Formats: sequence, structure tokens, C-alpha cells
Amino acid sequence: MRRDAPNAYGEGMTKRNAGTAEPKPSRKRKAAGTEAPVMDESGTMTASAVSNDVNDTAEMRSGEGTHTDAAHDRGDAHAKLIDHSYLAEEEFGTIAETLQRNLATTISLYLKFKKFHWDIRGRTFHTLHETYDEMAAEIFPTIDVIAERLVMLGGSPVAAPAEVDRYSPIRVPTDTIHDARAQLQQLVDDHTLVTRSLRDDSKKADDADDPVTADLYNATLLIHDKHRWMLAALLDDDKMD
Ligand SMILES: [Fe+2]
Repeated sequence: MRRDAPNAYGEGMTKRNAGTAEPKPSRKRKAAGTEAPVMDESGTMTASAVSNDVNDTAEMRSGEGTHTDAAHDRGDAHAKLIDHSYLAEEEFGTIAETLQRNLATTISLYLKFKKFHWDIRGRTFHTLHETYDEMAAEIFPTIDVIAERLVMLGGSPVAAPAEVDRYSPIRVPTDTIHDARAQLQQLVDDHTLVTRSLRDDSKKADDADDPVTADLYNATLLIHDKHRWMLAALLDDDKMD
């Protein structure tokens, strides 16, 4: 289902050099979450196999439990911008993967709402045209919050459409769907996936000692849960066809 994705820090970057103009190639690190995530049939997102590179594994083992902050080790200007010393490298990798994926997912969902807002036809036009726009507007601010949380932790958020598409499990339609029921069914399915994933990611963040990111996911869940309920209620209509 998912194509090859770059690591969660941004293309060609690790936590050590994320956000800098010249990535350091010498110490390639592949902590958990740097590989493309995979979605199982229940819609749960899981990290795929983590690198077994001997050097990486040894490096991670030697730093295990020390909570060293790799970005701060460099002591340069960028390092002063971020403080995530409470996260170990592996924990950072886990959190960064969830943030990058949820960033891309939210951008895709926003665009999908707009696409359906434009394409809807039929007797429910006005209701759905307005509803999709309201939902798009509600999730729009969370895009920036998720991206900036990733930056705060030393990562580099994706923005280019191709990158967004690589990380997001939500597909923005390239065809034109006028039918209300078809649109709503896709959106309900998408929201089932997103809400399940966010619950998993909230727990992951808690387990990785990052309650702030967990709170972010809990807050966004309130929005997506509400949207799923509303979309399912709209779909529950015998006369829609
Ligand atoms: Fe509009």
C-alpha cells in the first residue's frame, strides 16, 4: 500500500543534522520510525522493520538509556533552538515518525475535504458543500501545530506534494466523485483509520515519555472523532441515493 518513504526527520537527515543546510552523512542513524510506516487491515499504523545496520545497532545499544541529546552535542546555533533532552534517540525516532505521518495525513485529509467540497452534486449539495468546508477549516490549524511540534523536537516537516503523498495513508482522489454517498463512505473510512491511528500514536507518545505530543494527538482526536460521527450520521440516510 505504501511506497518507499524517506526517514521521519526529512529527506537525507537524521536527528543529528535535521534542519541544517548540510546533512552530515557520516553517522547514518536509523532509529525506529525512520522507515516507512505500514498500515494493517484494521487501519493501525505500525513502523516497518527497523534497520539492522551493525554500526547503528551498536551505536544505539551504547547510548541506550542515557537520554543523550544528539542535536545538542554539536553545540552549534541550530542545537540551541531545540530542547528535547528528555527524549532518547530511539524515542525521538518513534515520535518523529508519528508526527511526520500525521502531518501528511492531515494535509491530505484537508485537500480531500476541499476536493469533495468542489465536486459534490445532487440534492444534498448545500449541506455537504458547507459541511466539508467547515471540517476542512477545523483541521487546518492542526497542520501547523503538528509540523511545528516536529521542528521543536529536531525534525524537518515535509511539505512538497510528493512527500506528503508518500507519508499519508489518505489518498486524495484524482478522479471526480459527484455522488454524496460515495464521498461520505470514503470519508467515514478515512476517519476510522485516522482516529484509530491517532489513538495508537497517543499511546506511543506516552510510552516514549512525550506527554506533550500525546496531548496534541488527544486534542486532534476530539476533532476527528466528531467529524467521523457527523459524517456517519449524514451517511445514515435512506433517501440519499
Ligand atoms: Fe469554497
